[in-house]
Amino acid sequence: MPFLDIVDLSAGYGGAPILNGVNLSVGKGEVISLIGPSGSGKSTLLRVLIGLTAPSSGQVSIDGTPVDYASKASVRALRRRMSIVFQQFNLFQNMTALANICLAPVKTLGVAPAAAEARGRELLASVGLADKADSYPDQLSGGQQQRVAIARALAMQPEILLLDEITSALDPERVGEVLDTVRALAATGISMLLVSHEMSFVREISTRVVMMDAGRVVESGPPAQIFTAPQEARTKAFIGAIIRH
Ligand SMILES: Nc1ncnc2c1ncn2[C@@H]1O[C@H](COP(=O)(O)OP(=O)(O)O)[C@@H](O)[C@H]1O
Ligand SMILES: [Mg+2]
Repeated sequence: MPFLDIVDLSAGYGGAPILNGVNLSVGKGEVISLIGPSGSGKSTLLRVLIGLTAPSSGQVSIDGTPVDYASKASVRALRRRMSIVFQQFNLFQNMTALANICLAPVKTLGVAPAAAEARGRELLASVGLADKADSYPDQLSGGQQQRVAIARALAMQPEILLLDEITSALDPERVGEVLDTVRALAATGISMLLVSHEMSFVREISTRVVMMDAGRVVESGPPAQIFTAPQEARTKAFIGAIIRH
């Protein structure tokens, strides 16, 4: 049984269809990368999965339990198992790195503040920022802020992590440190569903690559297949275009 199972999932904004029947499953410990042109629905898929955008039809289940996106309790339960990190970090500017990390565990999981803080310091150390606990976001580089955002997502002890272009807003020199953090995370066996334009990274880290276009999965397969022997014309065109540049 897949850990995350997405069946015929559709969604749109104000009646305009954006996702058109997505089928995808993620096994325990799998790292799946979504690729495809801008506007193909990659971010929308992640937003629907985490409960930020309502699906119009379809089914999502996690570990065999169907998610009811119309139910706040069901979405709350989902978010104890699934976390998301965005391109723009979304850290609270008026809180230190450590306070950003401790907020959700204390407020939504009811973890005691001292325990959350101890765990928060461990997480900061695990992303190479042990000495930045008391820094505010504007005292940190983009790469450091993104690593705090990853630590914050991990503080909820998710079983699956969604990463939406988390290196796209960074200076080129800062991309590597964030990718190293994701690489280390993948080795821990957490499941991941990520969107990235760092194609060599996608190729290296993914157990499977999923090509999306126009709100659908066009093709999915091991990285070697998608990058060197794509089956579908749309995938061939996309891979051809990105490899030429
Ligand atoms: N909040 C929104 N309201 C209306 N349309 C949106 C919104 N967010 C995204 N869209 C549209 O949905 C489509 C898919 O967008 P998105 O999921 O962000 O694609 P991708 O992440 O693959 O670039 C695009 O046409 C985009 O303009
Ligand atoms: Mg996007």
